[in-house]
Amino acid sequence: MSLEGKVALVTGGSRGIGRAICQQLAGQGAVVGINFVSNPSAAEETLAEVKEAGSAGFVTGFDVADSQAVQAAVKSITADYGGVDILVNNAGITRDGLMARMKDADWDAVLNTNLKGAFTCSKAVMRGMMKKRWGRIINISSVIGFLGNGGQVNYAAAKAGLVGFTKAMARELAARSVTVNCVAPGYIVTDMTRELSEDIQEMIKAQIPLGTLGTPEDVAKATGYLASEESGYITGQTLHVNGGMYMGN
Ligand SMILES: NC(=O)c1ccc[n+]([C@@H]2O[C@H](COP(=O)([O-])OP(=O)(O)OC[C@H]3O[C@@H](n4cnc5c(N)ncnc54)[C@H](OP(=O)(O)O)[C@@H]3O)[C@@H](O)[C@H]2O)c1
Repeated sequence: MSLEGKVALVTGGSRGIGRAICQQLAGQGAVVGINFVSNPSAAEETLAEVKEAGSAGFVTGFDVADSQAVQAAVKSITADYGGVDILVNNAGITRDGLMARMKDADWDAVLNTNLKGAFTCSKAVMRGMMKKRWGRIINISSVIGFLGNGGQVNYAAAKAGLVGFTKAMARELAARSVTVNCVAPGYIVTDMTRELSEDIQEMIKAQIPLGTLGTPEDVAKATGYLASEESGYITGQTLHVNGGMYMGN
């Protein structure tokens, strides 16, 4: 599943699942752009790991919800590396709370980063992909977008929204051999889930047929496949990586 000669951009690539995706794509031979918004040192650590995996990479800081910043970053990447062939829309945040008490700001922050961010980044790279008649856009959704979860109406809406976004964009870009797919992780051990109490983690494990939380690498391997030449006839789909927690589609 070689990605030699390809340039990848991973939003929120500095930590957690994004970092594992950067390592995976680097291992497959891609030059990897590692995006972050607030923590440059974590991004530099990821860059060191990309280099260890035997690939070139670079760090690019911008807020995915800021379309001007996104366009400027993609312009500069295109000047330096010839464009973005693989985009992984991974940047995501949670601002949990029951609906009755959820503030507009919590709704807006989650929708802006998780859903609008995928729109701004995809829009910035799609023209280059269409010209090359090759591209891969992979959106990181979540099992929560399929199951729903009390206390996460904003996050569930954003993650379910990514699925519709993926299908519509897949139809628009298919004629130029650009594929657009989702990966929907279940519960994965990262900073996002480390905040959950022991009790909650045990309750979650009880709902997972494979009996454990997943690892960032589990998600990264699925993403690496959808980035590859070998997945070229798959578009508009969601690949669930959740230990069997949700088996629908
Ligand atoms: N962990 C899970 O169980 C799980 C399950 C299903 C889906 N997911 C999804 O998987 C993705 C990664 O999750 P994670 O657990 O790895 O999260 P994480 O460890 O909290 O890392 C989040 C990453 O996103 C970046 N980021 C946040 N807001 C951003 C913005 N506005 N612009 C650019 N980058 C931004 C962060 O950068 P800084 O470090 O600079 O802040 C960081 O690199 C998210 O979309 C999440 O919703 C996670």
